[in-house]
Amino acid sequence: MREPVNGRLELADEQATSDLGVAIAAALPEDFAGWGILLRGDLGAGKSTLARAMLRSLGHQGRIPSPTYTLVEPYQFPRGSVYHIDLYRIAGAEELEFLGWSDLSDGLKLIEWPERVTFLEREADLLVQLGYRGTGRGAEVSALSERGTALLTRMSAGTRNPVTS
Ligand SMILES: Nc1ncnc2c1ncn2[C@@H]1O[C@H](COP(=O)(O)OP(=O)(O)OP(=O)(O)O)[C@@H](O)[C@H]1O
Ligand SMILES: [Mg+2]
Repeated sequence: MREPVNGRLELADEQATSDLGVAIAAALPEDFAGWGILLRGDLGAGKSTLARAMLRSLGHQGRIPSPTYTLVEPYQFPRGSVYHIDLYRIAGAEELEFLGWSDLSDGLKLIEWPERVTFLEREADLLVQLGYRGTGRGAEVSALSERGTALLTRMSAGTRNPVTS
């Protein structure tokens, strides 16, 4: 078995960011209940682009509104629920209950601006750190849990996987 990859990636254009989202979605286990994926990066770094590609890859057709104002956008799939979350407007953990946070534990959480709530890093499985690189973006993908490490291992074995080194 190949080593899990804590991958650094160059994402030359929007398509490359989407490809990374597709690769992560393809490496998820069939049952992703309780999973958390943190999407970090400055304004416009590509967090929503990656989340949208994941949602499409999981089977969502049609619009994917930004959760900037609603804070949580829920999606139901035969495999389970996915919650696209944007914590930009959240000041800290004490505000999470307004979102009905405890009701979201049955699904996969895709969380933009997770740094607003420090405990999330201890509970999540994967961190995708996005940053500006010239006209494109860079990404660093790291595991935060054992099952996150297993996901990275599956990603590095995947044929559609842009994480190759
Ligand atoms: N690898 C890339 N190279 C160049 N442009 C990209 C890349 N990935 C995404 N973009 C573009 O960056 C812009 C912002 O993307 P996106 O909305 O996903 O960012 P975001 O991190 O969610 O921003 P916010 O912090 O406002 O939520 C979009 O126009 C998108 O097409
Ligand atoms: Mg966004």
